[in-house]
Amino acid sequence: MKVLLDDKIVERNEVKIDMEDRGYQFGDGLYEVIRAYNGTFFTADEHIDRLFTGAKKIDLVLPFTKNELKERLYKLMKENEIETGNIYFQVTRGIAIPRDHSYPDPIKVPAVFTASTTKVPRDQAKMDRGISVITLPDMRWLHCDIKSISLLGNVMAKHEAHKVGAEEAIQHRDGIVTEGASTNMWMVKDGVIYTHPDGNLVLPGITKIVLLDVARKAGIPVKEEAFTLEQLKNADEVFSSSTTIEAMPIVEIDGVKVNDGKRGPVVKQLQDLYVKAVE
Ligand code: PDD
Repeated sequence: MKVLLDDKIVERNEVKIDMEDRGYQFGDGLYEVIRAYNGTFFTADEHIDRLFTGAKKIDLVLPFTKNELKERLYKLMKENEIETGNIYFQVTRGIAIPRDHSYPDPIKVPAVFTASTTKVPRDQAKMDRGISVITLPDMRWLHCDIKSISLLGNVMAKHEAHKVGAEEAIQHRDGIVTEGASTNMWMVKDGVIYTHPDGNLVLPGITKIVLLDVARKAGIPVKEEAFTLEQLKNADEVFSSSTTIEAMPIVEIDGVKVNDGKRGPVVKQLQDLYVKAVE
């Protein structure tokens, strides 16, 4: 599998990242994950827009236009013959010496861009079966809207889940559910779908945009409204969403079954609508 380093397609072992790279030193950078289906990127423009929005928020000067970025990503996808899979890319604030917290002059220190791909089919069995999760306090920072490569808080939350054999960690702030370690969180109660509104406490998920859209078009009531842990535990259905897992049923929370412990009808309907949106 080839990778992208700035505008060049190279072998992965040819990429040498400088130890003074601010991404490596400070986690100073942004990333995105886009999914490809049947050789085409899904919602590429939305992901690219989010990258540009994030860059503006942290005064990161991106080394390409939106179109140039898209062209690079397509080139890599074709080179690696990705039909269905993920493309990961990140941009760091470049190599600034000596180490200094403050941002360097972007004219002197250009951003560094890398991208890689993986072939991953949809895990239909898991999407039918659902996953178990834990809940834990959201210990991350207050800029969760920025898709930063600084992911230690998220990584720690995911590890807590893995320690007890669960797959995701539902985070909450003072009992209000925010999001998973790498997913947005949803619940269904009395036929209404709830998810935390965008803002600084959650990532504005691209999958969330798609799910809200298909749900509204199908006439399913949706509320972008925060809900509590207690509401979550009494929900009819719970699910998480992301580019890589689409809509994933959650069938067990902290060792207790959600409803009957099986995928519910609303998430099943959303999964089907999502597949249609992709095709
Ligand atoms: N994660 N919330 C967090 C904290 C995330 O990291 C992600 C995505 C999402 C869902 O966003 P989207 O629907 O745009 O993928 C929500 C990616 C996939 C990752 O880190 O691998």
